[in-house]
Amino acid sequence: MKIIIVGATGTMGKHLTEAFRKEHEVVTAATEGADIDVDITSTESIDNMYKKVGAFDALISTAGPTYGGPWKKLTDTEFRKGVEGKMMGQINLVLIGQHYINSKGSFALITGALTHDPQLNFANASAANGAVDAFVRAAAIELDNDIRINAVSPTVIENSPQYFPYFPGDIPVTMQQLEFGFRKAIFGAGTGQIIKPY
Ligand SMILES: NC(=O)c1ccc[n+]([C@@H]2O[C@H](COP(=O)([O-])OP(=O)(O)OC[C@H]3O[C@@H](n4cnc5c(N)ncnc54)[C@H](OP(=O)(O)O)[C@@H]3O)[C@@H](O)[C@H]2O)c1
Repeated sequence: MKIIIVGATGTMGKHLTEAFRKEHEVVTAATEGADIDVDITSTESIDNMYKKVGAFDALISTAGPTYGGPWKKLTDTEFRKGVEGKMMGQINLVLIGQHYINSKGSFALITGALTHDPQLNFANASAANGAVDAFVRAAAIELDNDIRINAVSPTVIENSPQYFPYFPGDIPVTMQQLEFGFRKAIFGAGTGQIIKPY
C-alpha cells in the first residue's frame, strides 16, 4: 500500500513513519526535511504534493498547527493559526486529495481529546479539532469510490512529556496505542469514525 504521511517529521509522524515503513511504501511530507515539502495552509502546495506523489492508497495527517498559550493572548490572528492550519489544512488535504486517491483508499486525520475535554491554553486546538471531527463525519457520507475517512483523537501522548502538566489526570496515550488507532483508521472497514486510541 502506498501511504502518504503529512507531518512525518513530528513526534507522532516519526513514530508512524518508522512503523508503517516496515510493511508499506511510505512517502513522507512536512514543511521541510521530508521526502516532499508541503505547506498545508496553501492549497497550491497541497496540489503540488499530490501531483508529485501520484496515485496513492492512504493519507495520514499528523500536521495540525494551532495556537497554544494564555487565553488573554488569544486574538483573531492567533486563532487563525488553528483555522488555517489544523482545520482548513487538513480539510484541504481531503478536498484536493480525493481527486488523486485510489478507489477504496482512506484518509486518517488528527484531532484530539481537547474537543470534548478542554484544558487551559488550548481553546484554539479544541475548536479546530471539533471542526475536523464534524468534517470527517460529513465527508464520510459524501466521498465516492468507497473512499473512507476517519480521525484519530488521542489525549496527550507518551512522547510529548512537555505537555503532561497541561493534561492533569490524563494517562498518556502510548505510541503503540496511537499507532494502532491509525492502523484501525487506515486498514479497518469503518468510515466517519472518531477513533479514541485509549
Ligand atoms: N503531542 C501530543 O501529545 C498530542 C496529543 C493529541 C493531539 N495532538 C495533535 O497532533 C498533531 C501532531 O502533534 P505532534 O506532537 O506530532 O506535533 P509536532 O511534533 O509539532 O509535529 C507536527 C508535524 O506537522 C508538520 N507541520 C506543521 N505545520 C505544517 C504545515 N503548515 N504544513 C505541513 N506540515 C506542517 C511539522 O513539520 P515542520 O516541523 O516541518 O513544520 C511536523 O512534521 C497536532 O495537531 C496536535 O494538536 C498532539
